[in-house]
Order: sequence, then C-alpha cells, then structure tokens
Amino acid sequence: MSEKISEKLNSKSYIELENQYGAHNYHPLPVVLEKGEGPYVWDVEGKKYYDFLSAYSAVNQGHSHPKIVQALVDQAKTLALTSRAFYNDQLGPYEKKITTLFGYDKVLPMNSGAEAVETAVKIARKWAYEKKGVAQNQAKIVVCENNFHGRTTTIVSFSNDPDAYKHYGPFTPGFIKIPYDDTEALTEVLAEHGDSIAAFLVEPIQGEAGVYVPKEGYLKAASELCKKHNVLFIADEVQTGIARTGKLIACHHEQVQPDILVLGKALSGGMYPVSAVLADNAIMEVIQPGQHGSTFGGNPIACAVAVAALDVVIDEKLSERAQSLGDYFRTEIQKLVDETDLLSAVRGKGLLNAILINDTPDSSTAWDLCVALKENGLLAKPTHGNIIRLAPPLVISQHQLDQCIEILRNTVTQFSR
Ligand SMILES: Cc1ncc(COP(=O)(O)O)c(C=O)c1O
Repeated sequence: MSEKISEKLNSKSYIELENQYGAHNYHPLPVVLEKGEGPYVWDVEGKKYYDFLSAYSAVNQGHSHPKIVQALVDQAKTLALTSRAFYNDQLGPYEKKITTLFGYDKVLPMNSGAEAVETAVKIARKWAYEKKGVAQNQAKIVVCENNFHGRTTTIVSFSNDPDAYKHYGPFTPGFIKIPYDDTEALTEVLAEHGDSIAAFLVEPIQGEAGVYVPKEGYLKAASELCKKHNVLFIADEVQTGIARTGKLIACHHEQVQPDILVLGKALSGGMYPVSAVLADNAIMEVIQPGQHGSTFGGNPIACAVAVAALDVVIDEKLSERAQSLGDYFRTEIQKLVDETDLLSAVRGKGLLNAILINDTPDSSTAWDLCVALKENGLLAKPTHGNIIRLAPPLVISQHQLDQCIEILRNTVTQFSR
C-alpha cells in the first residue's frame, strides 16, 4: 500500500520535504500555509497572518472567496474539460462577459500569464506580416528594460535579469529593448525602425522590477506614438490588471485602451490558472483555426471561475476600494518613511505598493525585515534586492489595513533600533 502523504506534519518537516523532493527554483519565506480567507492566511501551526503578497496580485478578491469557490465546485461537478475540439456552454457567455467589460471585440483564452504574453507576441507578429506588410521574419517587438513578462524561452530572451535569462540561450531574436518610462527612447526607435515594428509591449507599472510607476502621461504618449507608426500597443496587465491599481486596468488611469490587453492572475481570483488576450477583430482575425491554442485554455471550470471572479470585482467595487485604501496606505506609510532611516520611500498605485529599504540592493535587510514581519503576523516578500512589495487582497477592510500599518510600523521601529 502506498504511504499516506497527507499526514499532518509541522512547518519544518514540510519545508524539508520541499527541499528534498522539489526543484529549488524558488526561495520562499519560511512559512507553510494551509488555509486562507479574505486577507488572511494560516500556517500549519495555526498562526494567522495578513497576506501582503496576494500570490503576486492573483488573489485580489481575497482567499477562498465563497462565490468563486461555489462556481469552481459547481462546474467541477458538472463538466471540467472538453478541449476546444468541441464547444462548451461556459466559454461563450464568459467571452461575452470579458469582452464587454474590457471593451474589445474578441478574447483568446489561455491559462498562465506567460502563455498569454506569448500569445500576444504571436498575434502581433502575425498581424505585422498579414496586415502591416512587414517583410517575412523581420517583425520586431519593442520591450522595456527591467521588464518581467514570465518565464518561457521567448520571454526570457528579452529579459535583462541574468537570473531570468542566463544559460537559457540561444535566445529568440526580434526584440528591441529600450529604457522604461522613456518617451524619447520610444520616439527614436519608432522613427528608426517603425516600418518593421509590430508592437510595443509594456507593463503599465513594472511590478516585479520593484513597483516602478512611470511618469504621468507616459502610457498615453506611448500609445499615441504607436498609433502614429501603425504599431500595436500591448499592455501586459497580468499583475496590474483587474482592479489592483485602483482602476479595472492600470491603463485606464491615462484613458488608454491598449490594442492588445494581456490579463491573468486575478482573472480567476487566484482560484485557477486563467489568462486572456483581448483585441478587436482587425487584430484577432489573424489567428485562424489550428494556428494557436491550448488544451486547457477556455475550459469550462476556467470560464465559470473567471465569470464569478469578475462579478466579485464589480459587485464589491474592488477598483474603488483599491484606489481609496491605496491613497490612505501610502499617506500612512510615508509618515513612517519620514520617521525612520530604515526606509527611503514608498511608491505605488492603488494597492500595488512597495517600500524601499535604505540599504544596498545585495544586503539581506529586506529579507530580514520580511522575516520579522512574518513573526509579527504579516507576509510580504522582497522583489529585487532592497524593495518589498506590499499588495494585500483588495477586500481588506479599513480596520484590517490599519492593523497592518500598525504591524509595519512596530516591526520597522523594532528593526531600526
Ligand atoms: C507583468 C507580468 N506578466 C506576466 C507574468 C507571468 O505570469 P505567470 O506567472 O502566470 O506565467 C507575471 C507574473 O508575475 C507578471 O507580473
């Protein structure tokens, strides 16, 4: 008989199991979680924490939201997977819902964020050859320095983070990297290579890089430049999308409607891998049957879960909550920044924020502070070096957020001594 693996262990034993049997492709904080509800998670010893990572902004709707759980369970009991070889009764209604909500003609459903970015890259290249008239195999896509769009071979080909790309070559050609938040650089590259450029791919806020918010007007200017040169403006809103920054998508802060919109993570409230690429007919029609797909993309569970997750965003006014709670949070944390030498800044939009630690990027201060925060009941993780992202579920209440600010204040104060 096979050994029962669900026997209850303590945190240390679970961590040892992962260390022994799992690839070491992550460096988790030493906490083993077994339960979540709203903004809270509990470890296997029963200790309760505020989740200030939200699975990299996937759990915007809060852990185990009852309406999303219900949709998942009901659909799993009814029909889980058909593949796209047949129609299913969940996909069409979901497609109508998401395209109406975000204002596009069509959606192409995928699973992970990286797959959706790959899909956008493929659509943009095909559009360049078939609609724009770029010479075969000459299409280029402009990307930004310090981008993070996922982990596939093509995507890491245009990363400038050695951890992401080193020793994964040979790399996919056809990408031009320019500095982020630099309208001048975009103007120049479009003037020089505009005829062969298919698209400009950009994160409206660079999340993984450390929550870099570009100057006001950057996205608007970039989208107008793209229009001028007949170049597609692709917004990767996998992390910034679905209410996180205080609008349904971060591009809406500047009234920009991307030509191609990439969504993932919170599209399912973190319940299931669901991603999507949205575009109008003139772009999406370049993909014809058999030219792109995924066994799981658009499966009935994913569709039912995404419909429920989007309903929660609208019904619970999560964009509005993120906007007002985010403004309040930054004001309060700014006071802390002003009081201590340990922090040099707080920045962000809505409830996607980061604090900058006043130490060298290779110091362990950010990590040590996250360990101390964990001890005090709040889970957060450093992004790059000395930056800690702070992104709670958007269902967090004012009172709960005040408790979190108190934990941050106490921990930073303890730590500074
Ligand atoms: C902006 C952005 N794009 C794409 C991805 C990749 O998503 P996934 O991990 O679901 O492949 C991420 C993940 O953090 C992201 O932040």
